[in-house]
Amino acid sequence: GFPLEVDLAPIAEGQVVKVFWRGQPIFINHRTPKEIQSAQTADWRSMRDPQPDSERVKPGKEQWLVVSAICTHLGCVPTEHQGNYDGWFCQCHGSQYDASGRIRLGPAPLNLALVPYKFASDTQIIIG
Ligand code: FES
Repeated sequence: GFPLEVDLAPIAEGQVVKVFWRGQPIFINHRTPKEIQSAQTADWRSMRDPQPDSERVKPGKEQWLVVSAICTHLGCVPTEHQGNYDGWFCQCHGSQYDASGRIRLGPAPLNLALVPYKFASDTQIIIG
């Protein structure tokens, strides 16, 4: 597939945008300080799909989370800023993801999948 350039400058803190790459929806979350803190301080070792927040974001760019927007249960697109974990709630069967996109509650087996991307500048990423 082709790489996708995304300009981050228009994405306000606290805003989640959805882009499409290879025909799949991707969430880009400009995380708030509160979301970053909750993602970093949660006890990841006890999670269903254990992964520290530091392995899900780029060093020095912790305000940006870029993940697949496909629920790992049966493929619905979860809703942002809902649920109990500063993250997403899946309306289909109630899975809840945190501000790092990690599965915290409900039937989904895995965290929202990471997406390959890199920063081209402070305000631009290239997905793919
Ligand atoms: Fe998301 Fe079932 S598809 S909880």
